[in-house]
Amino acid sequence: MEQENASFRQGLDSGHKAPPTIIVIFGASGDLTARKLVPALYNLGADGLLPDDFHLIGYGRSELSDEAFCNDMREAIGKFSRRPLDDEIWEHMASNLRYHAGPYDAPDSFEKLRQTIEKIEKSIGTETQCLFYISTPPSVFKPILENLGNSGLGRRHRRTPSSSKVVIEKPFGHDIDSARELNAVINRRFDESQVYRIDHYLGKETVQSLLVQRFANSIFEPVWNRRYVSCVQITVAEDIGVGSRGGYYDRSGALRDMVQNHVMQLLALTAMEPPTSLNPEAIRDEKVKALKAIHPLNLAGDDADVVRARYQEGLVFGEKAIGYLEENGIPEDSTTETFAAFRLYLDNWRWKGVPFYIRSGKRMALKASEISVQFSRPPAILFGEGDRFDISPNFLVIRIQPNEGITLTLNSKTPGLETLLQPVELSFGYETTFGSDTPEAYERLILDAMNGDGTLFIRGDETETSWNLFTPVLEHWDERGSKGIESYAAGTWGPLDADKLLLRNDHEWRLEES
Ligand code: BG6
Repeated sequence: MEQENASFRQGLDSGHKAPPTIIVIFGASGDLTARKLVPALYNLGADGLLPDDFHLIGYGRSELSDEAFCNDMREAIGKFSRRPLDDEIWEHMASNLRYHAGPYDAPDSFEKLRQTIEKIEKSIGTETQCLFYISTPPSVFKPILENLGNSGLGRRHRRTPSSSKVVIEKPFGHDIDSARELNAVINRRFDESQVYRIDHYLGKETVQSLLVQRFANSIFEPVWNRRYVSCVQITVAEDIGVGSRGGYYDRSGALRDMVQNHVMQLLALTAMEPPTSLNPEAIRDEKVKALKAIHPLNLAGDDADVVRARYQEGLVFGEKAIGYLEENGIPEDSTTETFAAFRLYLDNWRWKGVPFYIRSGKRMALKASEISVQFSRPPAILFGEGDRFDISPNFLVIRIQPNEGITLTLNSKTPGLETLLQPVELSFGYETTFGSDTPEAYERLILDAMNGDGTLFIRGDETETSWNLFTPVLEHWDERGSKGIESYAAGTWGPLDADKLLLRNDHEWRLEES
């Protein structure tokens, strides 16, 4: 247990408890609340990690009684929680659970919310922090933030540990201008230290562990640079299609939905310099520096660094899957990409000239996310006689999910009288070593936000830097409409053009699971 919950952050151990807390979830009748947020809170409660005085207010537009909300949440925990529902723990949680129906743009509804919060604080009898979790469609982020500011809720207990905190779900903007605008609204009403922009990939155990692997082992740092690394590949692949989320997805696409946030966070953690401390700002400074070092992308021509594609019908695990344009809610003339791949270069001393290939897509052959560092081949002086020796490069593969773990491939001699080489693997699996009961990303992230630790959240300048890089790509794609959008059969690894991105440097995609 201790191992599972151990934090690499200073001053935060598994016994640490936040001050009395009221969490207000905006978008309480939405999917994320039922699937992830409330089950995560339940598990934190089961692990004894919630403050002793903990209240939850679900805020939503639909009319719902406290009782009906409670019943829905009980059912959600039964379906989606990591731990089975325990009546005693649930009863305790349910006794402090309420529902607040109201629009997001109505000041009087926020005034009522303020009164409810003050009443709860009075009953607790001590300073209580509010954590406002915005899990609504992005179109209402602004009115909620404005109303939190205008009602005074955002200023409660400012500059104390019980200061109000705001967690904002993705998507954070849809291009650089909208992200800047949202940051401006936030900055007018909150200190940056009160704001927690969420990217649930940062809460994954394996992603947190990346910093430990890089900086708590001295063997990697000397070779983690352009002298020894030939390329870095980051794949975030899903086998599922857009399912019932067609309406959202078609306005978003693979670049906005996965690459601009999740994939770029993985890249930043892989490429960044060692931070001067484990202080959240020190880590975020280094991530921003890495993102800022990325060279602007070549958008067109033979040397383009970008590929976009859309799935057509195909077979996924032997089952027929329909094409993107046939999915529910997708307009016939949609130009949205379900797959995107990029070749990026960082203009800094560590990485100059090393390609970072990234790709993400829906309806690919497998669900698999991994970072693969490909090292340079040894000079062919000793084992250079063509076919007799298959000197493959060394790879360090960090499997984010599933089968979380790390593999290092080495060349070895096969047993026998002849000298023949074969790549072999040294492997570490989280489940084999630590067991499988790992907290979900949302548990980690909600706990950190309650404790005021922003390490695993995205700072305003990080998100703007990433949008800066990709906004020209989005504009270019918009101008071209459906021209230049490739297709791939559902259940495959994407279009041929994504392979060609690598071939130019004599590289090829590699995936541990395939
Ligand atoms: C979300 C995207 O952020 O991440 C979804 O909006 C995607 O489209 C999901 O399916 C993937 O998350 P995970 O944790 O299953 O890899």
